[in-house]
Amino acid sequence: MKMKHLQTMDHVDLNKKRVILRADLNVPMKNGQVADCSRLYAITETLKELAECHASITLISHFGRPKNAHNANYSLRPVIQRLSEIIRDKNIPLTCNFREDMFFEETINLSKNKSTEQMLCLENLRFFSGEKNNDKEFAKHLALFGDTYINDAFSCCHRAHASIEAIAHLLPSFAGRLLEKEIKMLTQIMEATQKPLVAIIGGSKVSTKLHVLSSLIKKVDVMFVGGAMANSFLKCLGYEVGKSLVEENMLCQAKKIMNDAKKESCQLVLPIDVTVADSLDVNVETNVVAVENIDKEKMCLDIGPKTVGRLSGFLDKAKLILWNGPVGAFEIKPFGKGSFALAKKIAQLTQDNKCQSIVGGGDTLSVISQCDLQKDFTYCSMAGGAFLEWLEGKELPGIKVLMTT
Ligand code: 3PG
Repeated sequence: MKMKHLQTMDHVDLNKKRVILRADLNVPMKNGQVADCSRLYAITETLKELAECHASITLISHFGRPKNAHNANYSLRPVIQRLSEIIRDKNIPLTCNFREDMFFEETINLSKNKSTEQMLCLENLRFFSGEKNNDKEFAKHLALFGDTYINDAFSCCHRAHASIEAIAHLLPSFAGRLLEKEIKMLTQIMEATQKPLVAIIGGSKVSTKLHVLSSLIKKVDVMFVGGAMANSFLKCLGYEVGKSLVEENMLCQAKKIMNDAKKESCQLVLPIDVTVADSLDVNVETNVVAVENIDKEKMCLDIGPKTVGRLSGFLDKAKLILWNGPVGAFEIKPFGKGSFALAKKIAQLTQDNKCQSIVGGGDTLSVISQCDLQKDFTYCSMAGGAFLEWLEGKELPGIKVLMTT
């Protein structure tokens, strides 16, 4: 049987080509400004290479989840503004030309007649229903903007959307450098022989992480479940969890995951102490209690220091650490202590060459960037949902379409 291979920028001569570049410009915003630029920096390698080839680029992306219609709150304009500053700081010879209407004849003509130093940047693709419907006609329209398609948005590859899937059937299509790197690094996890492998899975809902939890227990030696998700597991074991967020309809699933973990010889680890408060508000009074002593009026909002200590013991022995999802409500002070302590611990172990570390998911990246530790991990994936689906072993539509025999 012939092996399938990812088609990358090494498999095409991009010299002076008209290139449609699908990036993920879906970045967090605060007060109208880009709050975290990681995803913008992450595509600069591809942009630089394309600029060096004198390719004529049209940049496309979605942003947020507008309801298939123009909505000024979801315009890509401020994001493109920030991207153009980053491009300038990195001395990439490109200027961004943002156009609001991709259906104007003038915009299409611009993509044919512009200088290669000018990068045409289109407005949010999700203003059009064709994008999410993976509509062939919409994809055909997008394809008018180039003769070669490059996908550098691994974080969107779990979406069968027109700019990710349908368009790749219409043009010669290749993975950009970021997408290529994401696949390479995440493949290492899937094929990991580096043991013990410790996974930390946090976040708020078992329901959104059910599949990844079920699939990871077959691969990892130790799985720590943290964040609000741990409440459902604790409740299932009979602990009082007070007013904490619990998914009642997921208790059976939590039980099944615990049983399956035993069968798979995966040690499933839960918090042994937690930080509790009356409510999730800034600087409320907090207490640290053992999980046996949670008051029925309180909410569990972070892991406690004993849990950090216990988990550190597992991390000290790990050869590979995989982390997705904060272990507390880190956005609200002081409930980030557990997540920040773990970020520092894993970064230190990585820097001391004790292990490799891979993290993914917007919130986890945010924890790491708040501690300014991005460079201290082996690999930080830009992806959230796609990262999880990849770890589950699912075939991602945006990747499938870039594979060839
Ligand atoms: C992400 O932020 O994970 C990607 O941009 C995909 O966004 P979506 O979940 O809105 O499709």
